[in-house]
Amino acid sequence: MRIIKADDYYSMSRMAANIISAQIIMKPKCVIGLATGSTPLGTYAQLIEWYKKGDLDFSEVTTINLDEYKGLSPENDQSYRYFMNKNLFDHINIKKENTYVPNGLEPDSKKACDEYNEIIRKSGGVDLQLLGLGNNGHIGFNEPDEAFEKETHCVKLSESTVNANSRFFENIDDVPKEAYTMGIKSIMQAKKIVIVVNGKNKAEIVKKAFFGPVTPNVPASVLQLHNDVTLVGDAEALELI
Ligand code: GLP
Repeated sequence: MRIIKADDYYSMSRMAANIISAQIIMKPKCVIGLATGSTPLGTYAQLIEWYKKGDLDFSEVTTINLDEYKGLSPENDQSYRYFMNKNLFDHINIKKENTYVPNGLEPDSKKACDEYNEIIRKSGGVDLQLLGLGNNGHIGFNEPDEAFEKETHCVKLSESTVNANSRFFENIDDVPKEAYTMGIKSIMQAKKIVIVVNGKNKAEIVKKAFFGPVTPNVPASVLQLHNDVTLVGDAEALELI
């Protein structure tokens, strides 16, 4: 695993955006796996800036997002589809039909997950997967568990995740309790993985995930077994390693 230590959030975001840019420049028709959460926001802002300067072209890029809340529509401002449109897709020349997020409005979990697995398969595989890290070590919405789930599945969100994500909702009761997420096998099949982390509150879990035992109790620890992972963090998040 490569570790890139950035001074602050801004430079962490630039470094992650640099890796994504390099991927797009080297292979314009690439498949990028994308993440939500507050950590990648700066990375997306940087990509938008470079696109506006004329340095990046997304016209042939396909994106596949990790997850979506079950029950939220694309128009709901807390849905991950809405997040991606607002923070990235609406500002670049990507073709909307080439951007994929699980269908939160599909009530039949099996159908939603099968369809998403098919999308991943048909894409030919993810060239570069961007990840954030949940406070409890989750990636996508793969929560701590007894075993690693392989493909897209429906998860019951843990109490700590519901609490952590409640900051984006008016009321904690509005936070969906279930989500569709890509599985660990799908994430691990990406050719390259970039994981971004910032802030003091991630320091403990960064140490556990990347320097502790590989266990489904800390889902991100599985990344230790991938042969091309780059951890990009600010000084605070990396202070214990
Ligand atoms: C959510 C997302 C994850 C993300 C995590 C961390 O639960 N499903 O993909 O990595 O939050 O979020 P943040 O970057 O805001 O700490």
